[in-house]
Amino acid sequence: MRFQDRVVIVTGGSKGIGAGCARVFCQEGGLVAILARGTEEGESLAQQLSDDGPGRAIFIQCDVSQHKQLGQAVERTVAEFGRLDCIINNAGAHPPATSLDDTSVEMMEELMRTNYISTFAGAKYALPHLRKTKGTIINMSSMTAILGQDRSSAYCATKGAQVSLTKALAIELGPDGIRVNAILPSNIDTPLMRDWAATLDDPESALARVSAMQVFGRMGTSEEMGRIALFLATEDSSFLTGQAIEAEGGASLDY
Ligand SMILES: NC(=O)c1ccc[n+]([C@@H]2O[C@H](COP(=O)([O-])OP(=O)(O)OC[C@H]3O[C@@H](n4cnc5c(N)ncnc54)[C@H](O)[C@@H]3O)[C@@H](O)[C@H]2O)c1
Repeated sequence: MRFQDRVVIVTGGSKGIGAGCARVFCQEGGLVAILARGTEEGESLAQQLSDDGPGRAIFIQCDVSQHKQLGQAVERTVAEFGRLDCIINNAGAHPPATSLDDTSVEMMEELMRTNYISTFAGAKYALPHLRKTKGTIINMSSMTAILGQDRSSAYCATKGAQVSLTKALAIELGPDGIRVNAILPSNIDTPLMRDWAATLDDPESALARVSAMQVFGRMGTSEEMGRIALFLATEDSSFLTGQAIEAEGGASLDY
């Protein structure tokens, strides 16, 4: 019960890594607000997590690319649960592999809004509440922020921006007792990963290739990312801030 009666917002929490985070925090007694677009999926997961307990989850419909909706969802969370201890800025999209020639500036702007502006806005709107609890901000970036990825320049740029924001905010908010860290997953088996593979010529061999990249010969799980987030949200990591945690199963070793 490492998060008992404490409150966490998970953006994009209805599936994939976000759902893994929501599940882990709920299992540790947390009160979890799942922010996502799809009502059916979000409500059903919130119900299931609450039934399993010991924590409780609610669903709040929110398109994080609309920053005013995100601000309202933060306020609704605090109205419902009375406090806020952590925000996990996790919602994100990975477009199909696309060359720079075929990436319009408008596509870049839209992806920046979904993946990065939402991270900035989430931190900004959560801040007044996190000051009261000396809470934490966790940004779900990616190993692609530091390693790059073929025909994914727009995506990689949004993930890099999250890391820079993490470091700058850690400096600014440290005196308030607020810690800010990023998680950089390599290959995690989620709907996003499978959707991305489906855009390639041979999805099955693409999934086998990304599994083989980790020294364990497998992808990570959403719950493994959730447990890292739990560590970053609790006193176990009280001396860590501004860190880009490479949650990559050894994928970047032995180059
Ligand atoms: N899966 C991986 O291997 C991997 C690797 C590195 C980084 N990441 C990052 O982890 C995060 C989660 O990825 P995932 O693999 O779980 O993806 P996913 O597609 O499986 O889940 C992403 C969630 O974000 C939500 N979302 C997307 N756009 C949204 C919006 N505008 N408003 C509200 N919700 C929105 C989706 O609905 C979904 O619930 C992303 O930021 C992604 O960049 C994933």
